Amino acid sequence: MGDEELVRAWREAEREPGAVVLDGFHALKHALRFGGDVRRVLTVDREALLALAAELAEDVVPALEGLALEVPEAVVRGLVSRVHPTGVIGLAVRPPAEANLAALAERPRRSPVVLLENPRNLGNVGAVIRLAAGFGATGVVTTGDLDPWHPNVLRGSAGLHFATAVERLTLPQLPAGPLYVLDPEGTDIRDLSFPDDALLAFGTERYGVSEELKVRADHLVAVPMRPGVSSFNLATSVGMGLFHWMSGSKR
Ligand SMILES: C[S@@+](CC[C@H](N)C(=O)[O-])C[C@H]1O[C@@H](n2cnc3c(N)ncnc32)[C@H](O)[C@@H]1O
Repeated sequence: MGDEELVRAWREAEREPGAVVLDGFHALKHALRFGGDVRRVLTVDREALLALAAELAEDVVPALEGLALEVPEAVVRGLVSRVHPTGVIGLAVRPPAEANLAALAERPRRSPVVLLENPRNLGNVGAVIRLAAGFGATGVVTTGDLDPWHPNVLRGSAGLHFATAVERLTLPQLPAGPLYVLDPEGTDIRDLSFPDDALLAFGTERYGVSEELKVRADHLVAVPMRPGVSSFNLATSVGMGLFHWMSGSKR
């Protein structure tokens, strides 16, 4: 296939519903490793890409051997705004919402679902998805108008959207489970532990948790702070919440 044809095929695949761009080696590696439906891979140096994979992620070498096609850097530059230092881009299709919703609804749930209420910062959401994947959380649910599959969120998660269930829902659609709302006004987190089927909820960056969410809470929980500090950053709060769950978990 010539370069022009490759570009045409890429553009066509990009228009498919649920298509997402994987920018750079780490995003691509995670998508492949966690069963993402990766359709196309373009690289400026196929030999270097396979050598990098052999060094850092041997498990994805066979998939890359089958998928990676080499094109001049100018071709990649024409498809994405900036060529990643690893010189590779991939195109995947996100898992169907039905599959994610089924994973979120599964009972008994063996690990928490993180809820971000109306998050505003794409980088924060990506960092939270990366944390959730690392801790083995069941999923990350967002409310509000931000798309948790936005390319910048996917960049922030290093492609770890494929390792946990990421969906946007409304409050009435939340999966079942005891709701622990993290809020600086809550009771001391050290006085309780989070069960495996908890919904761990966090408020929007500037304004915190809404009244609507507080009313639904089974527990309002705070990580104590030194006087004068008003709050922690959203993603670091999620990290502390998930670490607290993991620390109390018997496994
Ligand atoms: C940047 S904070 C929001 C700040 C907001 N002005 C407030 O007072 O809640 C974003 C979210 O992180 C969580 N958070 C931040 N600091 C926390 C703390 N000390 N204890 C519990 N949750 C916290 C809460 O869920 C909060 O809504």
